[in-house]
Amino acid sequence: MIGSIPKDFIAELIARTDIVEIIDARVTLKKKGTNYSACCPFHNEKTPSFSVSHSKQFYHCFGCGAHGNAIGFLMAYDRLEFPEAVTALANHLGIPVPREAAQQKVHASHYELLAKIASYYQSQLQHSQTALVYLMNRGLSEKILKDFGVGFAPPGWDNLVKRLGNTQAAQANLIDTGMLIKNEQHKIYDRFRERIMIPIRDSQGRIIGFGGRTLGDDTPKYLNSPETPLFHKGRELYGFYEARQANRTLTYACIVEGYMDVIALHQCGITQAVATLGTAASTAHFQRLFRHTEKIVVCFDGDRAGKDAAWRALETSLSTIRDGLQVNFMFLPEGEDPDSFIRKQGQEAFQQCIENAISLPDFFFQTLSQQVNLDTVEGKAKLNKLGYPLIQKIRPGIFQTLMMNKLSELLGVAPEKIRSLHVGTVQRRPAVQARSLLKQMPNKTKLLSPIQLAITLLLQYPKLVEDPAVVLPDSIRMFKQPGAVTLVQLFDLVKSRQNLTTGAILENWRGSKVANRLAELAAWELLIPEKGLVAEFCDTLEKISQLEREDKIQTLLKTARQQELTAEEKKQLMTLLKERH
Ligand code: GTP
Ligand code: MN
Repeated sequence: MIGSIPKDFIAELIARTDIVEIIDARVTLKKKGTNYSACCPFHNEKTPSFSVSHSKQFYHCFGCGAHGNAIGFLMAYDRLEFPEAVTALANHLGIPVPREAAQQKVHASHYELLAKIASYYQSQLQHSQTALVYLMNRGLSEKILKDFGVGFAPPGWDNLVKRLGNTQAAQANLIDTGMLIKNEQHKIYDRFRERIMIPIRDSQGRIIGFGGRTLGDDTPKYLNSPETPLFHKGRELYGFYEARQANRTLTYACIVEGYMDVIALHQCGITQAVATLGTAASTAHFQRLFRHTEKIVVCFDGDRAGKDAAWRALETSLSTIRDGLQVNFMFLPEGEDPDSFIRKQGQEAFQQCIENAISLPDFFFQTLSQQVNLDTVEGKAKLNKLGYPLIQKIRPGIFQTLMMNKLSELLGVAPEKIRSLHVGTVQRRPAVQARSLLKQMPNKTKLLSPIQLAITLLLQYPKLVEDPAVVLPDSIRMFKQPGAVTLVQLFDLVKSRQNLTTGAILENWRGSKVANRLAELAAWELLIPEKGLVAEFCDTLEKISQLEREDKIQTLLKTARQQELTAEEKKQLMTLLKERH
């Protein structure tokens, strides 16, 4: 749905919002110089390293590296999804959130269509003795089937086509929602035939797709709706809506593998279970759940494959953990899945398993210790090699520190020493790096490449482009240096719009690969006096051009050592060498 809020509106929203006001309502800020500061709400600390800039409309923590604009703050602090954060800011300003009308209508009609289909399937279930018997045999009550909207797609290739696809437009909608298939011979037929139909709802309870299970043993056992504009498998969690309906707050969330597991667990009183849709749990899944709960328990089979999957889930979850959040891992007895286990052993036994789930740190060090022999020097070195980079994925904070201490204890090497041995091999978080290097370097700007410095200057002082001396040479548009594309995009953006703040600029890169890097640069402490900014920027552009030229010269010289240059290349080299002087 992100695409359906117009970009211009988001830009306007950020322009009209004051981040200081938004944050101050949640974390008491103290004025300190031109900025505002507080103890960071995202990690534990005693002295304030969290800073909010009014002029940049941007916050940043020098301790843990958290950063963002007003939208980002609400997403992180109030644990909102992007559209929810936008709505919250709009409500604060008392303005309605516009939706891109055309798309909204299409979406609305798709939701309606899927809802209609779901009730058709539900009514068909009542007419199918076989399907009802199948579900009763699985121990499912009428109430739970109703709560989850379970239905049945009768046998036959054209039940939906006949019922709902009378016009071409109607057929197109059915195809777009994944309910009909158009094959290469342009024949149109129902995707789901003779299957138990499980509607998949989004977090607002709207049906966005279906999972269909065969009644027998034929394959595929489960057939899912394809990816559609409404349905994104990698993001959705089956049962999330139902879990939130059943619980005012989620004291934890238990991630299991299958739909049927979720339904069986709910029926037996475990109403905080959700399932991924045939994929492994992703970072997006963890982030999403962590906006609503502080504890995630991931459930796995007790066998080797289950352990391996749990380790992968652990690796995926690391970057999403903040102080105060926890991930635990539970393993079922071999041969059982949550559905079979809870039906045999009951709610209490399952609840007990959840409570006995192994904590991330324990699972982490247990698994790694099993892979090495800690009695040997080589074993310890290997533990360090495996463990350290993973611990670095966790956000700096108490949790990360404790993990480091534990590693240090097992190795018999002080944490500081471990860290110093890894400098250069693992990318440290720039916020932390910036701080420690600041002590050694009189001028931190030296640490940035010229392109990074140019980007930083534009991000922090977008007004630079209003100075007549500031011109972006056209040649830069063709440069191959890393970051050149971003620099050009950024320059064009600040040139085309007046009065953009740093926070507003960054919004244009939300979700892109470079978003984090840009935010780090936005928070970079430049020690350049205001008066020197224009000159610094022009010098930097000059340096970028020089670097590009040097690079071309070196490439041509290298080629020349291996083969004769073409006339064109020779001419180019001459020009470049002349320019150099
Ligand atoms: P039951 O046999 O009905 O109890 O299902 P289960 O949940 O025990 O099934 P299983 O452990 O085999 O699969 C777990 C999840 O993997 C399911 O909920 C589906 O999301 C997915 N899955 C299983 N089989 C298939 C398949 O054949 N195709 C697809 N696309 N997904 C499948
Ligand atoms: Mn099962």
